[in-house]
Amino acid sequence: MQLLTLPPSPALATSIRATAQVFEDPKSQALLAHLQQVAPSDASVLIIGETGTGKELVARHIHNLSARRNRPFVAVNCGAFSESLVEAELFGHEKGAFTGALSAKAGWFEEANGGTLFLDEIGDLPMAIQVKLLRVLQEREVVRLGSRKSIPIDVRVLAATNVQLEKAINAGHFREDLYYRLDVVNLELSPLRDRPGDILPLTRHFINAYSQRLGYGDITISKEAELKLRSYSWPGNIRELENVIHHTLLICRNGVIERDDLRLSNMRIERQDDYHSQVDDCAEALLDRAFQKLFDQQAGALHEKVEDALMRAAYRFSHYNQVHTAALLGLSRNVTRTRLIKMGELAVNKRRPAENIQGERLVQLSI
Ligand SMILES: Nc1ncnc2c1ncn2[C@@H]1O[C@H](COP(=O)(O)OP(=O)(O)OP(=O)(O)O)[C@@H](O)[C@H]1O
Ligand SMILES: [Mg+2]
Repeated sequence: MQLLTLPPSPALATSIRATAQVFEDPKSQALLAHLQQVAPSDASVLIIGETGTGKELVARHIHNLSARRNRPFVAVNCGAFSESLVEAELFGHEKGAFTGALSAKAGWFEEANGGTLFLDEIGDLPMAIQVKLLRVLQEREVVRLGSRKSIPIDVRVLAATNVQLEKAINAGHFREDLYYRLDVVNLELSPLRDRPGDILPLTRHFINAYSQRLGYGDITISKEAELKLRSYSWPGNIRELENVIHHTLLICRNGVIERDDLRLSNMRIERQDDYHSQVDDCAEALLDRAFQKLFDQQAGALHEKVEDALMRAAYRFSHYNQVHTAALLGLSRNVTRTRLIKMGELAVNKRRPAENIQGERLVQLSI
C-alpha cells in the first residue's frame, strides 16, 4: 500500500485530510507519478474530476511537493460568490472602491503571493472575470478595484473543475484562451468506480483515521462488508466512502464492521458500461451482487438453484466435458456426473444433442 505523508495543515482540521494519501490502484499510481513529475515546476495545472475524487487534495499535494511548500496555499471556490464579489475577492479593493468597501483589502492573488492559488470550480467563474483573470496571469500583476497601481505577483495557479470545460467553451460559457492558459498540465482524476484497487486501501485508511479520532481500539471489517464496498458504484467517490466509513464506525459493535452496518445510498449506478473491463477484477463482487438480487427476490431453495446454475455454467464452459467440469469445480468426476444426471444435463446411455458433442465420446453411465 502506498501512503504518502504530508505535513498536517491547520486549515484541514475538520476532515481526515492530508496527513496520508492512498494511491494504490494502477491508475492512481500513474497519476501520482505524473503529479510528482509536474509538481516542482511552476506550470499551471488543470485538475479535472467528478465530485469527491480528490481534486483539492491533489492540488495541496502539488503545492507540498513544490518549492513553494512553505509559502501560502490559498483555496478559493469560484462558484461560491456573486460576480461583483468574486472580482473584489480575487483582485482586492481599495477603501471606498464600492459601497460597503469600508477599508482596503488584499485579494486572493496577493494573499497567495509567493505560493499557490487554487481556483476550485473554475467553470463557474463569470465570463467578465475570466477576462480579468487571463490578464492577471499574462501580466503577472494585479490592480485592486478602485486603484491604478499594479502590484506584481508571483503566484502558481492550480484550477479544478468537475465539468468538461470543452463543453462550456462550445456553449460560450468559458473562454478558450483562458482554458489554454490554465491547461498547461492536465490531471484527470478517475471516478472511484474506475479504480477499484483503491477502495479497500482507502477504507482501511479511513477506518484507521476515524477510529483513532473516535478513540476506538482495533476495528476489523468482514469479507462480506469488503465485497459490498467493492461492488458499489460510489457516485460520490472518495468523499462518499469517507462519510460511509465515518457513519459505520459510529454504529458498529464489537469492533467488527459487518455488511449490514454499511448504509450505501440508493443512488446506485450500475457499472454496465465498464462491465467487461471490471469483470476479472471484480468477479467476486459481481457474484455478490447477483446473490443480493436473489436474496431480494427471496427465491426459495436458493442453495440448490445456485449449485445447479454453477454446475451448468461450468459444464458449458468446459464444452460439455465431464472431466474438465469436475476439475474446474474441484469435484470428483463421480459427484459431477451424478449431479449432471440429476439436473437432466446428462442422459444415461443416450447421445447428447449434436451441437454438444464437440468430438466427445458417448456418455455411458452405470449408476
Ligand atoms: N488519494 C486519497 N487518499 C486519501 N484520501 C483522499 C484521497 N483523495 C481524496 N481523499 C479524501 O476524500 C475527500 C474528498 O477529497 P477532495 O475534497 O479533495 O475532493 P474534490 O474532488 O475536491 O471534491 P469536490 O468536487 O466535492 O470539491 C477528502 O476528505 C480527502 O481527504
Ligand atoms: Mg473540492
